[in-house]
Amino acid sequence: MTHPIIQDLQQRYTAKRYDASKRIPQDELEVIYEALRLSASSINSQPWKFIVIESEQAKQRMDATFANKHQFNQPHVMAASHIILFAHNPAYTRDDYAKVVDKGIADGRTKPENREAAFGGFAFAELNTDANGNTEAWTKAQTYIALGNTLHTLTRLNIDSTTMEGVDSELIGEVFAEELGGYKCEVALALGYHHQTEDYNATLPKSRLSREQVITIL
Ligand SMILES: Cc1cc2nc3c(=O)[nH]c(=O)nc-3n(C[C@H](O)[C@H](O)[C@H](O)COP(=O)(O)O)c2cc1C
Repeated sequence: MTHPIIQDLQQRYTAKRYDASKRIPQDELEVIYEALRLSASSINSQPWKFIVIESEQAKQRMDATFANKHQFNQPHVMAASHIILFAHNPAYTRDDYAKVVDKGIADGRTKPENREAAFGGFAFAELNTDANGNTEAWTKAQTYIALGNTLHTLTRLNIDSTTMEGVDSELIGEVFAEELGGYKCEVALALGYHHQTEDYNATLPKSRLSREQVITIL
């Protein structure tokens, strides 16, 4: 299939080694940040924070989070251009949703007189909140929508990436406690440009289950 969307999806792959001499230009970083911000989420909840590891100092801090486990992902920290931490709000509340509602009013999407009615959607958050106020399963799921959106954006920009569930959420929580502000990061994304000779994944053919195995058309 030659459709440009399919070409994008065929072309993208998970990089395993990065060229440490290459960095993403600022104008393309701006596109990535806007794509993150524009990601869809249930009831437009946007229960996320995206923390971008860019500076040498931030990379040193990120490197330290690999002290105990998942060291197979550690080389990306210093060699990739950037790392994005996808963090979710573990206890999404009505106050959090109020920020969404008020932005909807500011953006002209909701009329001020309909503010109370706009909270109707919050019932969906309540459905996904346990007795202790925990919303993690639901809010974490939203971050994966932003992740998928970012993967496609990156391949459009010819930027390589590595999704990493292999991160130490606890240590990230400690090292980036200030920036996370109580949010949790259980998945991160390295982005940059693959190493021409050391990225053993770059030339492997794409492999997916067949269409018949995963798609049922009724
Ligand atoms: C949610 C998620 C978590 C992943 N975690 C890791 C990881 O920690 N380290 C890694 O090298 N690859 C990781 N991957 C990459 C997958 O193994 C890869 O996407 C899959 O094998 C398909 O290959 P492709 O991305 O090259 O098409 C992850 C991918 C996803 C979507």
